Amino acid sequence: MKERVEVWAPATVANINVGFDALGCALSAPGERMIVHRTSEPGVVRIRAIHGAALDMHPERNVASIAAKSLLQSLGNPCGLEMEIFKSILPGSGIGSSAASAAAAVVGVNELLDAGLRPDELIPFALDGESFASGARHADNVAPALLGGLVICPPEGPPIAIPALEDWSMVVLHPQIPIKTADARAVLPGQVPLKDAAAQAAWFGTFVAACHRGDGTAAAYALEDLLVGPHRSKLIPHFDEVRTLAFDCGARAGGISGSGPSTFWVALDSAAAENIKEALSGLMQRHAVPFSIHISAISGRGAHCIS
Ligand code: HSE
Repeated sequence: MKERVEVWAPATVANINVGFDALGCALSAPGERMIVHRTSEPGVVRIRAIHGAALDMHPERNVASIAAKSLLQSLGNPCGLEMEIFKSILPGSGIGSSAASAAAAVVGVNELLDAGLRPDELIPFALDGESFASGARHADNVAPALLGGLVICPPEGPPIAIPALEDWSMVVLHPQIPIKTADARAVLPGQVPLKDAAAQAAWFGTFVAACHRGDGTAAAYALEDLLVGPHRSKLIPHFDEVRTLAFDCGARAGGISGSGPSTFWVALDSAAAENIKEALSGLMQRHAVPFSIHISAISGRGAHCIS
């Protein structure tokens, strides 16, 4: 019987311009770590410590403990849990901080209790936690955080993994100005013009077809954001300047990661990715915006045990 497990979960980029609430990918970096301990009080979940972020430690108000409790309960509450959370993906960053916590929590409980659930079977429990943070039940961060790779989350039915783009380097810029997902959703219109919805569906289909052909250039070309980005870009510090500079330095596509403020910029070779990283870092410094920046790839690895 295991007494503790240690888990890692990846950051994720949701939406990827063409699939609002319906598409996401796991990143090779950053990621975050969690330790889940078994305790003797059946059904009781506590948070022992949270390192790296000032988050609510009340188990009813924390994404990780809510997700863990949901799974524990469905397994019959055979024990209690204590969680130690190491946040290296800052909350409000737009790269799936809460989804990584929720995914790590359910993978940890699954492993600790030897429950044997598949990653896709863990999604509903992770969503119980994630929806507490985002105010909506969408799996476009949680599904890739659990499954890894590029994942479509249809309105009904199981998630669909599509071939990840091996020639993509993604420069992920995080200006450290928190944006709550609920606030970023509040700026979106309730209805969109039919012609925009039709064009967006066509770009989404074109992107998926390009992924199946392994054509990273065509996939990048298809990343038109017609429905969401235009409304949210005003929330992102210096978005237009960032975009212009990224494209000048060789980005083939890019946009807002999830609900922002992080943005992602797609390069097709590592030299271009380095150029973009250096230029965007300089821009943030000139504007005195605190930031972090990563060059990442789409990772085939979802949340998993590391102990
Ligand atoms: N699809 C969600 C949104 C992702 O854009 O609001 C939130 O991280």
